[in-house]
Amino acid sequence: MFQLFKLTLRERKWVLLSLGCMIFVALFNYVFVDMVQPIINEMFGLAPAASTVKAPDGSPATAMTDNAGRDVPQKAPPKGVVKVRTMDLVLRLFRISRQDIRKVLPFVVVFVIFGRGLFTFLSSFFMKAVGNKIVKTMRDDLYEHILYQSPGFFDQVTTGDIMSRLTNDVDKIQQAVSSAMSDMIEESFILIALLVQLFVTDWILALSVFVITPLAVIPLAAFNKQLKRKGKQSQVRMAHIYNLIFETITGNKIVKAFTMEQFELRKFLKASWSYFKINLRLAWISSLSSPFMEFIGGVVGAFILAVGAKRIANGNISPGDFGAFVIAIFLMFTPIKRLSRANSVIQQATGCYDRVQEILNRVPQIQDDPQAQPLAAVKGHVVFDRVSFSYNESRPVLFDVSFEVLPNEMAAIVGLSGAGKTTIVNLLSRFYEPTGGRISIDGVSIRDVTLASLRSQIGLVTQDIILFNDTVRNNIAYGLDDTPMDSIIEAAQASECHRFIMELPDGYETPIGEKGTLLSSGQRQRLAIARALLKNPPILILDEATSALDSESERLIQAALARILKDRTTFVIAHRLSTIRNADKILVIDKGRIVESGSHEKLMKKKGIYKKLHDLQFPEEEEMER
Ligand SMILES: Nc1ncnc2c1ncn2[C@@H]1O[C@H](COP(=O)(O)OP(=O)(O)O)[C@@H](O)[C@H]1O
Ligand SMILES: [Mg+2]
Repeated sequence: MFQLFKLTLRERKWVLLSLGCMIFVALFNYVFVDMVQPIINEMFGLAPAASTVKAPDGSPATAMTDNAGRDVPQKAPPKGVVKVRTMDLVLRLFRISRQDIRKVLPFVVVFVIFGRGLFTFLSSFFMKAVGNKIVKTMRDDLYEHILYQSPGFFDQVTTGDIMSRLTNDVDKIQQAVSSAMSDMIEESFILIALLVQLFVTDWILALSVFVITPLAVIPLAAFNKQLKRKGKQSQVRMAHIYNLIFETITGNKIVKAFTMEQFELRKFLKASWSYFKINLRLAWISSLSSPFMEFIGGVVGAFILAVGAKRIANGNISPGDFGAFVIAIFLMFTPIKRLSRANSVIQQATGCYDRVQEILNRVPQIQDDPQAQPLAAVKGHVVFDRVSFSYNESRPVLFDVSFEVLPNEMAAIVGLSGAGKTTIVNLLSRFYEPTGGRISIDGVSIRDVTLASLRSQIGLVTQDIILFNDTVRNNIAYGLDDTPMDSIIEAAQASECHRFIMELPDGYETPIGEKGTLLSSGQRQRLAIARALLKNPPILILDEATSALDSESERLIQAALARILKDRTTFVIAHRLSTIRNADKILVIDKGRIVESGSHEKLMKKKGIYKKLHDLQFPEEEEMER
């Protein structure tokens, strides 16, 4: 709550403007109620008995006249009570005689209502502007913050969670700042103005109302508590339904393949029934609450009527005063309702604010060292020196990994899945920080250089291809805006993309749909290779980049790759060992350790793990060798 206030104060100028307008709204409300007394007394020809402005000496300031202009005997106002009516001040200010009041009053009514409307509009606009401004900044910050987080962050959070913070939570905060915050202030002002009004009009009547009201409020609070609890339960059950729908729509093929429609339907109907039940209970309570409130209101009203009638009869107040009093009470309903609503919105927003702060306070695990220098153009001499690593403290993934790859060499990393191959190349791009050891490129530790300069010299084609919802051309030239078309086509030809791209409806300008759904997985993989080639980096990582290709297109690409890989340092991770047979160096990884390394021939002679893997894939060769 306090934090939300602090947040709001960032836009001090607008908040102050809005605050000024709110004071005017409250003042106009005050004047509005004040008009009721003269309207009733003057228009209906009743004597303005208690409407007296006391002069400093304590005697009645003006001799009152009734409508016909005759002198009317004055009842002395109760001792010690000074009633200053704004109407009297206005009448005096504009020198309007009491005779003219009937002509003037309609204009005053219009003026007051117009004034109240104008300032309500202004204060509401200013606060909404504040809310929008604050939330825009917050959303921008949040997005930037998330974008710069290290991959480790994305391992821990789910996409849905981040999305809900960026949209739902931020919206709730906006609501709170835009409307709830201003409601809180504005309605408090109005409430205070009306309270003052009540006590000025008749403090005894006011006091008696305040004694009885709490008695009426207690059952109301019980109702609200029930409403809230059931509302929350209803939301939880809706979320469950939402999950079921999401699962079966995204997994529709699996549901069909296993003919599980009936099963899923039964699950859904059960969830839907339980949602229906809770909503029925909610409907019961909420339908009951309104008539119940009205009944209690009626009881309180009757009480006020009884006390008021007695006070009029005793001559303590005039009928006009009583009318003003009742109007003021009615006018208080709206602010009270809005205050309680604003309170619940703010409570919710406070939770959302904490969730947003949780992300804003999180520093990316991997950042540039303060003394980091940009990495100069590298030759590609990569050294891992006793590198160890674990994603989470409990389970180490790499142990003492040491190897050296010379400039322009092709290094292959092989091993069973889960051995740690991807992890090794992740460390080279500094997506994660090793827990021990040192990684260097051209003799410079990658910790001592800026992330941007390091990553700009590494090309990466990952296991899961990531394409953006954009044209073919922009997907290949990702991050390279002003690349000439010729080089794009060249890269596409080298990666065997050009032919299928030309068959697309708009060639290179064809949008490829969300995540590239309009392409086959082999085509997606070739696009990703084209993208890496176009970047033309001194170090290239192909992490199972050809695994989704059929043998025909793999053979085609292989030739092209061989040409491209010649003048750069390359790391190739592949399951199909045919791909890496002519690598300069093969690193065999098993359970996070390098167990063998060397050329294909050397490893085959060694008859270790590599040979076993090889023989599994090429049983014919084994036969031939015998
Ligand atoms: N982001 C991650 N968070 C936690 N553990 C991971 C993560 N990525 C991989 N691992 C674990 O690290 C080990 C090595 O994974 P990885 O390097 O991807 O294997 P490979 O590429 O050889 O198949 C596996 O046991 C895997 O479960
Ligand atoms: Mg992998």
